[in-house]
Amino acid sequence: MGSDKSNKVLIVVLLIFIQLAKPGDAKLSEKLARNNTESEGTREEKFLSLFSIVRFPNVVCTATNSYNGTCLTSAECTTNGGTASGTCASGFGVCCVVTIQTCGSSTSLNNTYWQNSGFSSAYTTAGQCSLFVSRASSDVDQLRLEFLTFTLAQPDSATLSTTGQCITDSFTVSGSANIVPAICGSNANQHMYVNIGPGTSTVTLSIITSGTTTSRYWNIRVIQIPQNTDYTAPDNCLQWFTEAAGTLVSFNYQYAAAPIVQHLAYQDYTMCIRTNQGFCGVKYALCTPTASYPYGISTVAAGTAAPGTVMDSSCAYDWLQIPCVTDQANSIVTSVGATVGCASKLCGILGFTVTTDSTTATTSLYSYRRPFEVRFYTDYKEFLVTAAAAENYGFCLTYTQQPCLSTVTSG
Ligand SMILES: *[C@@H]1O[C@H](CO)[C@@H](O)[C@H](O)[C@H]1NC(C)=O
Ligand SMILES: *[C@@H]1O[C@H](CO)[C@@H](O)[C@H](O)[C@H]1NC(C)=O
Ligand SMILES: *[C@@H]1O[C@H](CO)[C@@H](O)[C@H](O)[C@H]1NC(C)=O
Repeated sequence: MGSDKSNKVLIVVLLIFIQLAKPGDAKLSEKLARNNTESEGTREEKFLSLFSIVRFPNVVCTATNSYNGTCLTSAECTTNGGTASGTCASGFGVCCVVTIQTCGSSTSLNNTYWQNSGFSSAYTTAGQCSLFVSRASSDVDQLRLEFLTFTLAQPDSATLSTTGQCITDSFTVSGSANIVPAICGSNANQHMYVNIGPGTSTVTLSIITSGTTTSRYWNIRVIQIPQNTDYTAPDNCLQWFTEAAGTLVSFNYQYAAAPIVQHLAYQDYTMCIRTNQGFCGVKYALCTPTASYPYGISTVAAGTAAPGTVMDSSCAYDWLQIPCVTDQANSIVTSVGATVGCASKLCGILGFTVTTDSTTATTSLYSYRRPFEVRFYTDYKEFLVTAAAAENYGFCLTYTQQPCLSTVTSG
């Protein structure tokens, strides 16, 4: 008889818990996250506090398949369309991983993985496949998209007027407060920040495909980022790097000499580097090996440009823009212009240089302007569709923040 009674109590507790975990209860995560030190006024709260042991925050957790999930109750995981993969909150929660493969789905759960139908098999369907993303909580105003797998058709390389454009396939974002360029090709390990404006509730990620002969693959992690954290990117940054050193790579950079057309048309975005405390500048260098994977950003309509004509106003079509970029380590150059050894735009294939008299590539350049930013701009088409002139490889640059020395003051 006694055990019957405690079973009933247990059932009551479970019912209350299921009530708590009702789908669509916007305040649920708040309730679950609330700590127990606050004074509890209402009778309901007093009653619930008896069971406070089962309250836990909906934090990120690592699933058994190594994906990142959210710690939820088993019922919440089901209503969110997730899959329980391991436990969390001392076994009271499940690590809920949300992977979406159905086109036209919606999500508001942090760390949603958007995959092509049938991932990790190829997707060959033509059409539009979208994911509608809304805020996980009211303090979210940014998404970080991590391209774990990203293979779409290469940009056009057949027609001069459209070379570099994402004509067969493209990935686009709409509804964002920042301008997100359309991209295609190979972009694994790249990322993007998408801002959600105050008047917007949904941002749409779309993959538009034409033709059924291309094998596409994607697995995109959608991270929801709250406002004003130290990992919230500034508004103007499509890419945001927070480490002291790292690598900046143009979209569809192939780390190989083929295909000839790699960097994309219609790009205009900024890569930002978070200034670490005690650092005053950034050193940029070509990734190695430079001989196999040249740097190339269109300069002129035909053939190669002479040294010294691959910066500033000579970069009429496509360029990398770095504020007052110089080959002088640990020095301050205050005015912009080649004659004082400081440029702002770089292009060409002759190397990564700001000097006018060199035929050989400088391998490292420096900038001492804050914020640390590199803008990449390309126009609507690329030159030299057939010539192996490597004008359209794009860039792979390593960056290393430079400590403030006594000889350096920041501009
Ligand atoms: C717990 O609640 C108190 C009172 O509301 C608050 O001051 C404190 O910051 C909270 N602690 C945590 C870890 O949320
Ligand atoms: C999980 O998150 C960590 C930290 O952001 C990251 O390093 C790891 O790659 C993520 N794993 C997956 C499968 O997304
Ligand atoms: C989403 O998860 C990431 C870790 O993967 C975390 O940094 C971020 O704060 C979470 N966002 C929200 C709104 O909880």
